[in-house]
Amino acid sequence: MQNFINQLSQVLEKKYILTQDEDKAPYLTDWRKRFTGKAFAVLLPSTSNEVAAIVKLCAQYQIALVPQGGHTGFCGGATPDNSGKQVILNLKRMNQIREIDIANQTITLEAGCILQSAQEKAAENGYLFPLSLGAEGSCMIGGNLATNAGGTNVLRYGNTRDLCLGLEVVTAKGEIWNGIKGLRKDNTGYDLRDLFIGSEGTLGIITAAVMKLYPLPVSQWTTLVACENIASTIALLTLFQKRANSLLTGFEMMTRESLNLNEKHFPQMANPLQGNPPYTVLIELSDHESEEHVRQLLETILEDAFEKSIISDAVIASNLTQANSFWHMREHITLAQAEEGANLKHDITIPLSSLDSFIRETDELMREKFPGVRIINFGHLGDGNLHYNIAPPLGTDPKTFNETNEKLIHELVYGQVERCKGSISAEHGVGQLKLDDLRGHKGEVAHDLMKMLKTALDPQNILNPHKVVSI
Ligand code: FAD
Ligand code: MLT
Ligand code: ZN
Repeated sequence: MQNFINQLSQVLEKKYILTQDEDKAPYLTDWRKRFTGKAFAVLLPSTSNEVAAIVKLCAQYQIALVPQGGHTGFCGGATPDNSGKQVILNLKRMNQIREIDIANQTITLEAGCILQSAQEKAAENGYLFPLSLGAEGSCMIGGNLATNAGGTNVLRYGNTRDLCLGLEVVTAKGEIWNGIKGLRKDNTGYDLRDLFIGSEGTLGIITAAVMKLYPLPVSQWTTLVACENIASTIALLTLFQKRANSLLTGFEMMTRESLNLNEKHFPQMANPLQGNPPYTVLIELSDHESEEHVRQLLETILEDAFEKSIISDAVIASNLTQANSFWHMREHITLAQAEEGANLKHDITIPLSSLDSFIRETDELMREKFPGVRIINFGHLGDGNLHYNIAPPLGTDPKTFNETNEKLIHELVYGQVERCKGSISAEHGVGQLKLDDLRGHKGEVAHDLMKMLKTALDPQNILNPHKVVSI
């Protein structure tokens, strides 16, 4: 190890090689405090060449690396194991915006750029970088790409994968693959870019990316709507998709229980809809035409929904501050859950046609088998992405409850997901949290193909081992 450190100090200044416990501590525990590991060192490179030199050294000494961005991921992907032999490669110093190309409508970002800085830079230039999620003030582009993050704009602009045109990646050999191209058409064999996106640091280290920009919308209207049941929220989505089509840029569902939790921990985030209805839906329409045009469309669709008894109440934000407060309420649910204590998250996708029966049957089974549990549901309904979360019964110790029941609760939910032909990871990834569940979910053939790819690209298994797949 001493030789490794000596050689490392020829690549990085000493202050960027953290080996003291107090310096390493902030990098060892994930956002949810669900995973904590140990690391031999935390390395902070600032260029792709430095990353490449570090990976070469790790390959030479067979030392495993855990790539890390903002460490906001929910599946323990960026947290090392407990051996104390792994090193963390945190990309936060690689935070340059390399280029904005207006004619091409692209922005080239280094992996350590904070998502919010990328959004702000795009806006300064009159463009929209549409990736948006609650962690945007601290998550980084490299982490977003590595997890193929989703968020609140997916129904209009797609996942992070759909926003990426080119990548720069350091391979397990320590070579730099320069795929930094802003092309919208490029059929030159296997799609290496798409292979690295969503691979959670197990196939290569993403150091930079060319991302798509879109014209900034001129007008935006945001509304909160009350629905009595999940069937009505789906009918409402269908109505908006038909009538507003590509103007629909947000469709988020929040249950009464999730907003009650918000109000408990953040009283200023109380639901403005009277009586906090069973389902509150946040809807956003955006357009490039006048404010009036979108407002009229929104009102017409809401009137139609009232007439069809799909909705029982609605409040349209009268200004940007109020619109932002609706979004803050939605984004605070995760924070309220964190305040409440340990809970079990299931980030799933269900075909919209099966969502109603999924929720009814899963809720019933859950209440029967685990009396008193609190079901805290919300999600990006426009994408069929449900965050189906289980909080322990009030008055029980969350740690003991979760230790006893976690496996059984995951089995129940994932069994229902399989029945509905859904996915056990819509947007958060696999990491270490779902490592054991993936094989059964993907099936033997797909799982074997994934292992073959991992072995081919990282034969020494030094890139984030035992995350996503174990070889
Ligand atoms: P990290 O957590 O640091 O890493 C995540 C994974 O990517 C790890 O496996 C890591 O090894 C790997 N990785 C990181 N950087 C690189 C790199 N440069 N090269 C290769 N591999 C790398 N997620 C959603 O999808 N949608 C949401 O709406 C959403 N909302 C959230 C709200 C809150 C409040 C929080 C705390 C999290 C939320 N997340 C959401 C989860 C999380 O923010 C995303 O997964 C995000 O993309 C992770 O980015 P990060 O920089 O924090 O990555
Ligand atoms: C969200 O949709 O708010 C995020 O995915 C975070 C979460 O699931 O808690
Ligand atoms: Zn989400």
